Amino acid sequence: MPGSRHRFRLRGTLDGPEGRVGVSGRKVAAVTTEEQNSQGRELPGADVRNEVSAPVGGHVVQAGVVHGGVHLHPGRERPVVPHQLPAAPRVFTGRAGELAALTAALDDAADTGATVTISALGGAGGIGKTWLALHWAHRHLDRFPDGQLFVDLRGFTPVGEPVTATEAVRGFLGALGVDPAGMPTDLDAQVGLYRSLVAGRRLLIVLDNARDTSHVAPLLPGNSASTVLVTSRRQLAGLVTTHGARPLDLDVLPEAEARQLLAGHLGDARVAAEPAAVDAFLECCGGLPLALSIVAARATAHPGFPLRLLAEELRDHTTRLDELDAGEIPLNLRAAFSSSYAALTAEAAVLLGLVGLAPGPDIGLPAAASLAGLSVPRARALLRELETAHLVSQPSPAATGCTT
Ligand SMILES: Nc1ncnc2c1ncn2[C@@H]1O[C@H](COP(=O)(O)OP(=O)(O)OP(=O)(O)O)[C@@H](O)[C@H]1O
Ligand SMILES: [Mg+2]
Repeated sequence: MPGSRHRFRLRGTLDGPEGRVGVSGRKVAAVTTEEQNSQGRELPGADVRNEVSAPVGGHVVQAGVVHGGVHLHPGRERPVVPHQLPAAPRVFTGRAGELAALTAALDDAADTGATVTISALGGAGGIGKTWLALHWAHRHLDRFPDGQLFVDLRGFTPVGEPVTATEAVRGFLGALGVDPAGMPTDLDAQVGLYRSLVAGRRLLIVLDNARDTSHVAPLLPGNSASTVLVTSRRQLAGLVTTHGARPLDLDVLPEAEARQLLAGHLGDARVAAEPAAVDAFLECCGGLPLALSIVAARATAHPGFPLRLLAEELRDHTTRLDELDAGEIPLNLRAAFSSSYAALTAEAAVLLGLVGLAPGPDIGLPAAASLAGLSVPRARALLRELETAHLVSQPSPAATGCTT
């Protein structure tokens, strides 16, 4: 009533921006005003004084006369939406078939109402697994309204140790808004909490650079509408058979796409001006995106350098890996291969060295066996290990040799 002083005591805590409590200060004011209007009373004057009995942050609104109590209920905390994806790759080239396969897996899951969709991207170091995952992810962000989680598990890192499942789950829990002080300490409890938090949510979870299936198993959601992309230099047969993952093995880029990749970095004019040098780059890099991008980076760093000189350096087989070393670990071909190599059994590593010495890109199984002084079944088993590590490939299921 005008002229009189009114006191209003809020019994609750308004401790944050709107949304932290069930009724915000503004809503209290609105309720009060409506009530007064419906009862034909005048609106309170400027002398209305309210008192808040607990700490208040965010908006504080003067409320008028209130009949009955006002109850503030803590609202449901809105889930944190994580955005952990690294930036989208620049100058991404080709891979139309693989991009379509990833989208088809997502569409199929949406059609059939399936829960977790897992794609296992396999391929040698530098073949483009991480770039494919990131490029696809950024193109489909709208399909993951509940956010994106990303971890580089460093399964084949040339320096340091792989990220453990415990470290990865803790990182995800933090990204999902769990206070480090309230995090369970043992892995099972952490995994349980993680699966509860992602249950029913439409998240994209990228588990990059996994060493093997056991490395990623704790990070797979239980029952969720999430999509998981796992990348690894190994073929993750366990992920396919036990967890229903769709395998997607990446091969080198076809020549037209490799050429397009170079043009994307160097510009059409420079590529067109020195066709012989560009052909030499394509031949030396064998369609491996990492090698192509290192060559492109070197040429871009020296815009006035004739491509012919760089091509001559590359043609020298004995120093080719050194030429393809751009000096930084993510762009270092020798480092990429040596970390895959370090993960091999000793016998497989010796066989890889020997088949690499054989002339030509292919070698038959009997020739590989006799080169290494092994029985054919033993050589076959070791070649399978090398194939699993994506260090050799068997051209077709019927072929008995491999491509090095
Ligand atoms: N589709 C592409 N278009 C253009 N460049 C690419 C493409 N794919 C890969 N690259 C280049 O190759 C490099 C290596 O790719 P990426 O890091 O994805 O390899 P990877 O298979 O994940 O290797 P690793 O097993 O070492 O993690 C990238 O830094 C990029 O320069
Ligand atoms: Mg990678």
